[in-house]
Amino acid sequence: MVQQEYRFIRRKERLAVYPGSFDPVTNGHIDIIERSLKFIDKLIVSVTHHPTKKPLFSFKERMEMLQGVFRDRKEIVIEYFDGLLVDYLEKKGVFLVIRGLRAVSDFDYEFQMVLTNRRMLPRIETIFLTPKEEYLYLSSSAVKEIARLNGPVERFVPEIVAEKLREKHRS
Ligand code: COA
Repeated sequence: MVQQEYRFIRRKERLAVYPGSFDPVTNGHIDIIERSLKFIDKLIVSVTHHPTKKPLFSFKERMEMLQGVFRDRKEIVIEYFDGLLVDYLEKKGVFLVIRGLRAVSDFDYEFQMVLTNRRMLPRIETIFLTPKEEYLYLSSSAVKEIARLNGPVERFVPEIVAEKLREKHRS
């Protein structure tokens, strides 16, 4: 009887934000995105600016690459924000954040970020996901370096991104 009633309860959509600079998106980011969708309904992949990084791709290019990779995926929304993550989350009314945790080296930075953000916005919760082993040491910088030296970048990023990287280094 109780089980039958459950079917009529409209489940609220579970939303989360995955922030990052995505300069550019790699197979490692994609792995994290797909993993998160096992337990949330909709993921907002939010491209933003890292204060100490000089990006290779503009906001528009980074978003276009993400949109190209996730074309036809209604459960993945690509956005960008400028400013503090907590302000963006509050504006959106989303308080769940997805982050990738690759190696021990990520831990300090992530821990500091979570605690600082939580002091500004106590409602925030962060879920850390670990990518597949082969992506543990992958980073956007490594991919850019491989592309710059004409290496096999297609092993680490989707074809759309590989082509954009080749284009950048041709010009
Ligand atoms: N696979 C492959 N690479 C990955 C990865 C994965 N699963 N997860 C992270 N990386 C790489 C990224 O490509 C990036 O490489 P790079 O340094 O060579 O560019 C690096 O790991 C770290 O990137 P990411 O985890 O995406 O973080 P970020 O440093 O780009 O983003 C922000 C951090 C932007 C989310 C953070 O600075 C922020 O929230 N900024 C908004 C301003 C703010 O609120 N500041 C206060 C913070 S307390």
